[in-house]
Amino acid sequence: MGSAFNKYAMAFLATVFVVMSAAIMSDSLFDSHAPEKPGFIIQAAEGGGEETAGAAAPAEAVPIATLLASADATRGEAVFKRCAACHTAEKGGANKVGPNLWDIVERPIATHEGFSYSGAIKEFSKGGQEKWTYDHLNHFLTSPKGYIKGTAMGFAGDKKDSERADLIAYLHTLSDSPKPFPAADAAPAGEKPAEGAAPATETPAAPAQPAPAH
Ligand code: HEC
Repeated sequence: MGSAFNKYAMAFLATVFVVMSAAIMSDSLFDSHAPEKPGFIIQAAEGGGEETAGAAAPAEAVPIATLLASADATRGEAVFKRCAACHTAEKGGANKVGPNLWDIVERPIATHEGFSYSGAIKEFSKGGQEKWTYDHLNHFLTSPKGYIKGTAMGFAGDKKDSERADLIAYLHTLSDSPKPFPAADAAPAGEKPAEGAAPATETPAAPAQPAPAH
């Protein structure tokens, strides 16, 4: 009796062990601390510890238009030092680990000459139809792999709203004709508020913008 019980107990424990090992090995658990290219990872873990833990559900994100209203490109240039290991910022600059970022705002995604992009970001760009809007940049730089799963960009992301906004304000300066910031009080794209009581003017229907696939 005793030995039969032990046999079942062992079998059960072995099963538990296998299942747990599989869970530990799985991507989901390892994702955040075992990237496939550890040499390229630059952790953005400096500064205040007052932020909520990464695992907690994120609070409602502040729109980038609001963040940009108080952003500072000069501070952003300092933040860009974290990107400079992999990206050049000047016009005609070389591609390094990542593509040159001159004129990145409104540039079609994953289309810079001479750079070999991952399949993930090419798919996200829908063949260059999607552009680097302020909104896309904001989400991507918060969590590159969270926003574009499978991207080759080995950067952990910058979760600090003000710092990220400064950075995006700096990216905005990398252009001969910087693209204007979105208006802070603008309604989200696709939601045209009814304007006054004059329905005579025809508003062209905005094309439905499908949410990016994750
Ligand atoms: C460890 C290297 C590395 C760091 C650090 C890094 N990147 Fe990247 N970045 C890449 C790579 C590689 C790609 C190409 C991604 C792909 O092919 O999936 C990329 C792509 C991008 C793109 C898309 C470019 C395009 O042509 O579509 C932007 C925008 C970008 N990075 C911005 C930044 C910013 C801003 C920072 C600093 C906060 C940064 N990156 C830090 C490696 C890096």
